[in-house]
Amino acid sequence: MSVTWALPFNIKINSRSIKSVSPQIYKEIHSGTLKNFKEFWASLASELEWFKPWEKILDDSNPPFYKWFVGGEINASYLAVDRHAKTWRKNKVAIIWEGEPIDNDKPKDIRILTYGDLFREVNRTAYMMKEKLGLKKGDRIAIYLPMIPELPIFMLAAARLGILFTVVFSGFSSDALAARIIDSNAKAVITADGGWRRGKIVDLKGIVDNALEKAQVSKVVVVRRIGNNTRIVNGRDYYYDELMKDIPWNIYIEPERMRSEDPLYVLYTSGTTGKPKGIVHDIGGYMTLLHATMKWVFDVREDDIFWCTADIGWVTGHSYIVFGPLLEGLTEIMYEGALDYPQPDRWVSIVERYGTTILYTSPTAIRSFMKYGEEWIKKHDISSIRLMHSVGEPINPEAFNWFFNNVGRGEVDFGSTWWMTETGGIIISNLPGYYMIPMKPGSNGMPIPGIEADVVDEAGMSSKPEERGYLVLKNPWPGMPLTILNDPERYVKVYWSKFPGLFYAGDYAVKDEDGYFWILGRADEVIKVSGHRLGTYELESAIIEHPAVAEAAVIGIPHEVKGEVPVAFIILKQGYVGDDRLIKEIINLAREKVGPIANVEKAYVVSKLPKTRSGKIMRRVVRAVASNAEVGDITTLEDEASVDEIRRAIKEFKEELNNRSK
Ligand code: WTA
Repeated sequence: MSVTWALPFNIKINSRSIKSVSPQIYKEIHSGTLKNFKEFWASLASELEWFKPWEKILDDSNPPFYKWFVGGEINASYLAVDRHAKTWRKNKVAIIWEGEPIDNDKPKDIRILTYGDLFREVNRTAYMMKEKLGLKKGDRIAIYLPMIPELPIFMLAAARLGILFTVVFSGFSSDALAARIIDSNAKAVITADGGWRRGKIVDLKGIVDNALEKAQVSKVVVVRRIGNNTRIVNGRDYYYDELMKDIPWNIYIEPERMRSEDPLYVLYTSGTTGKPKGIVHDIGGYMTLLHATMKWVFDVREDDIFWCTADIGWVTGHSYIVFGPLLEGLTEIMYEGALDYPQPDRWVSIVERYGTTILYTSPTAIRSFMKYGEEWIKKHDISSIRLMHSVGEPINPEAFNWFFNNVGRGEVDFGSTWWMTETGGIIISNLPGYYMIPMKPGSNGMPIPGIEADVVDEAGMSSKPEERGYLVLKNPWPGMPLTILNDPERYVKVYWSKFPGLFYAGDYAVKDEDGYFWILGRADEVIKVSGHRLGTYELESAIIEHPAVAEAAVIGIPHEVKGEVPVAFIILKQGYVGDDRLIKEIINLAREKVGPIANVEKAYVVSKLPKTRSGKIMRRVVRAVASNAEVGDITTLEDEASVDEIRRAIKEFKEELNNRSK
């Protein structure tokens, strides 16, 4: 493999070399990485261990279906586990897991897994999947587990065998799970007898049973977390511990030699219209992006204690709890439950207990901590923190400053990393482990090396500084999707057609005079509720299943802590009265169909929705009313009175939110 080009990215684990530079200097360094971006990425990929080197860095013969490191052979499970278990790191702690329940002021359940432990568990689980479940390379499984160590173990065991997995967030309903099982053609479901969330048990197995009335699988594995009895369907359902009990500890399953461009996993994510899209990620490119960002963004060192507070059901957990930190051989914290349970200082106590050095969290969490107040933080010594980032939505400067001062002591590097399920890893960020530019509260910083991002206008031309436009990526990058599962045309249409040749992220953004990016939020029908990505379409289709509902439009309305909350505007069928009981029923239906994360905050019955003359609901208008923005061109609007009705409802809702927060 020929690496012809190298840059000053000489940040090796354990040797932190922060250089603070001006934005101008960073731009020069950055543009250097773009000149030969393929070779640049190849030099990073060569820091991973390949069974066989690649023949071609990038196959760009069939855009936008790019393939990275073609001909190379690799295995993500080998990289995240074996590589460390072969060295002294076998006795290094990989995962410190803390369960949610508290007993006598102490966490009731703590599990510590070294890289050696992880190696043994992953091998035994892989053996079990192969020999007892009969799964093999190319098969698919769905994983519906709470945040317990078995979740990464199953992901790594599947990756080891070349089994394509899809993790379904445990806040999704049985319908959502069934749809994902069907679309991914999963042969088995891995679940648990329950999970803890805010002191309550979530009956995951029950949800799986319901899902399996619609979707078929041949095997279900149930991990015992709670210890309650679940219904066991003979010949289909098995307890994990029973399957594992006679498997020797020294069993070794050779990791499959996967092609770099083989799929690693599918993760479903909400889009503009239609059902969720199964984003497929590759192995070689994905692992390369994670390696690079772990170094540049998190500046990781051997002695760090890394904590990403996300849930593995979302991409942040895939990349920065499972594959990224383990790839780097780090020690990390994995926490099962709610960050503010049973008290608002739960998360601070975790930081203190294990001496967290790197903290990766979300604006919505930060805003809720801020509401509880700094006295909760002062109860604990959290001076171990040396670096922080947030992700998931824009961070308001007020929340940024509060966190920077109260948690980061007004001195540690703190950034807002922009990326999305589709990008696989962080794309725009401050880079404390590379070249650090001055922080600007609320900004995302600049694109990472090797990535060419821009803000463009409707015609696809670069926007002027300070002018709002669309965020695009101009070059293929390692970690990009392979496709949308079962729907390559949709992949082309959604991401590569608005601006031919450019990847359209679906976000509004501005670039300021210094070249900093500020991602403002979605330009489409996706909303972010507590950082969770939801499609308004999914909520609307759930709501219109109610027999009383004729039509519905759901939009996101700004919320102080959650970022946005879904609010529905509903037209009832004739003969129905929109009383409290009916409204409640409709809201509950959405929750039941999509899952507890899809909590419609409020539903309003209206007599009309703003529509075009051809009958299409103008969500743009509804959203503009909600954000107090100019409604814009409504000449195509059929009936202007509909706007007034919505304006009144939104005004009422905002007043209610205001009163609630007082
Ligand atoms: C938003 C999460 C502003 C954005 C990793 C994007 C952000 C969507 C940021 C992807 C940030 C994520 N600043 N907005 N730092 N990070 N977003 O797929 O709208 O759950 O398109 O991936 O989150 O959400 P997803």
